[in-house]
Amino acid sequence: MTRVLSCIQPTGDVHLGNYLGALRNWVIGQHECDAFHGIVDLHSLTVTTEPGVVGENTLKLAAMLFAVGLDPDVATVFVQSHVPEHPQLGWIMECTVSFGELSRMTQFKDKSAKREAEFISAGLFTYPALQAADIVLYDTDEVPVGEDQRQHIEITRDIAERFNARFGETFVVPRPVIPRAGARVMDLQDPTSKMSKSSTTESGLVYLLDDPAAVLKKFKRAVTDSENEVRFDRAAKPGVSNLLEILSAVTGETPEHLASRYSQYGPLKTDTGEAVVELLRPIQTRYHELLGDREELTRLLRKGSERARTVAAATYQRACDAIGLIRA
Ligand code: AMP
Ligand code: TRP
Repeated sequence: MTRVLSCIQPTGDVHLGNYLGALRNWVIGQHECDAFHGIVDLHSLTVTTEPGVVGENTLKLAAMLFAVGLDPDVATVFVQSHVPEHPQLGWIMECTVSFGELSRMTQFKDKSAKREAEFISAGLFTYPALQAADIVLYDTDEVPVGEDQRQHIEITRDIAERFNARFGETFVVPRPVIPRAGARVMDLQDPTSKMSKSSTTESGLVYLLDDPAAVLKKFKRAVTDSENEVRFDRAAKPGVSNLLEILSAVTGETPEHLASRYSQYGPLKTDTGEAVVELLRPIQTRYHELLGDREELTRLLRKGSERARTVAAATYQRACDAIGLIRA
């Protein structure tokens, strides 16, 4: 079965775009492939300066992944720092990539430029080596990523190939895959931009943990246009089309079909808001149950991390043996 790895950093709250665009597909995908999902807390350390924050965010994200439907008996959901082979192999990867290659990473250039007057950790620079370790440790065949991560997958392939050429066939060389198209959810206040955690207006973003009143209010205030015809047309009517696409993603009916049922914006906004409230209700209930029972949550994570570690430890040993490090 194809081994697929997705990783997500425990930063920021999960929003409707993440869910309809990605998480929901992970839940379906867990039955079609051998799915590994890492919560990459060590990656978050590149920009962490306060105690107690990463761990709490890790638990919250884990609760959310299980709440949306990742099944710990089917998918392997693990915490990166629970598998020490990640930073161990990360060092070996750092020694297999050049300073020049890392210097060409556009994400490093963007992120370090944005942090101009701030502390820029060396980890921010070497981050792609740790990401390469994340991937090759699991003999990963496929890594579903968006455009912004493509360069990191390419460098992972280069590192894996270089290691294999130097020390003998050791790592599976992974393929980047464009994730199966989920809905593309736009900002409710600025429907020409993707709903994103870096959005400037909170009211355009629907979080999975928003209470029903907040969700309904955000949809009621969604930006539409000055006409009053309900029609699915992304270019001419981005706001209305976004509402139709969200309602379509929730109900399974096509946006065009849904459009034919409305003659005014008000009822479309209300119905979409209500549909999202109902979509989120069971997710929120399960989330709060899990977060209220930290022992159970920890048990589920331990189970995933143990399974992850079995695979990772074998790969790491293979790498050490290939290099010829003396066994302890
Ligand atoms: P990010 O929050 O940018 O790290 O994204 C995590 C995942 O959610 C990625 O797989 C994205 O493709 C997906 N995603 C983020 N925002 C949206 C959005 N507005 N619509 C659809 N998918 C999204
Ligand atoms: N760098 C990715 C991001 O910023 C997160 C990540 C870390 C990742 N390790 C990974 C993604 C391994 C895919 C595979 O979103």
